[in-house]
Amino acid sequence: MTSLAHEFYFSPEIFALEQKRFQFQDIFLGHSSFLNESQNYFVLPHTNNTKVLIHDGEKIQVMPNICKHRYAIMLEGQGNCKSIVCPVHSWSYDLNGQIVNSAGIECDLPQHSLEAESIDTYDGFLFPQHVSALKDALKSVKEFTNINFEQLNLFAHERFSVDVNWKSYMDTFLDNYHLEAYHPNFRTFFDSRYIESIFRDDFSVQAIHIREKPQIKTPALKAYIDCHRKYVGTFPQDYGAIWICIYPNIIVEISQCFVLIAIVQPESIDSCSIYEYRLVEQQFAQHQDFLTAFDNYMYEIEYEDHDLMTRINQGRKALYQQGSHNYGPYHPTKEAGQKEFHDYIRRMISISPNESMLGDFGGSKKIASPRVSAVN
Ligand code: FES
Ligand SMILES: [Fe+2]
Repeated sequence: MTSLAHEFYFSPEIFALEQKRFQFQDIFLGHSSFLNESQNYFVLPHTNNTKVLIHDGEKIQVMPNICKHRYAIMLEGQGNCKSIVCPVHSWSYDLNGQIVNSAGIECDLPQHSLEAESIDTYDGFLFPQHVSALKDALKSVKEFTNINFEQLNLFAHERFSVDVNWKSYMDTFLDNYHLEAYHPNFRTFFDSRYIESIFRDDFSVQAIHIREKPQIKTPALKAYIDCHRKYVGTFPQDYGAIWICIYPNIIVEISQCFVLIAIVQPESIDSCSIYEYRLVEQQFAQHQDFLTAFDNYMYEIEYEDHDLMTRINQGRKALYQQGSHNYGPYHPTKEAGQKEFHDYIRRMISISPNESMLGDFGGSKKIASPRVSAVN
């Protein structure tokens, strides 16, 4: 089996199909920690600000943030509000979405009120009802970590853009074959021969072991480990990181008491936006030096990954433009997660009414795979 055909990355037809078939914005709808005593609303940036979390005093709801009059985006950022007031013509809604003032226009109550989404929650994570991938992944990750997902604190969130196809970003996250070659830190700290994986139709989990005799190569990693020792205690010796991918575009990285959630949104064939939310177990949230050390540790890896994915995206694009159909193989264990993701893409895109366009690149049938313990 060879890697995903270049067409999947650069063909406008496939890009259009992805937009129709994938729920890029809706699989993750935030976490209860996004709200607290001082803020009862939080606009979700990864939905392009079209959805907002609202606490009405009793429960958290996910509400559309688009006015029913002329469709303006209403709330911004996060904060505290008694009602949702549209800044454009002052229509206002109560915290359950019911219209309370339509400024001189007669309104139809159900039709012009905002309707809360049907959601489920698990360990504080919010997601649409009947979309269980996030919940299933979080459940299965508990054999690797006892992090308290319910007691997390959001300490930062940001958006950045990357000039690669969104799948190149996902590929890099799912490639454990580059860890030694490309990350000086990971080379001597993580042991990519020992990755425990869970592969399912809609998500994957990969837990990577720490080396028997780990060496710390950069100041960023050293500062992170020092802070961990200071505030948490002995650094765990089993898993260095646990990486979850919820298909198609959600990344959850668990590093000891930290959780980093990234939503990778395609902007065009050649660019994507990354919306990152960084959370920490509540009891460590006041240690600013620990949070900064974690950020620096992550940034170091992200810079290296950014460079790597740009190289791959450029080379692949050149081959696509040349009409090349030569493809490289997968490493059987270290690229198994990437292959699983590609199988998902093949399955989702190959059910096309216009299948001929995919030529030989049609999908494969998924057979539920058991937990795979990767050695070498
Ligand atoms: S667009 Fe919101 S009140 Fe007119
Ligand atoms: Fe990497």
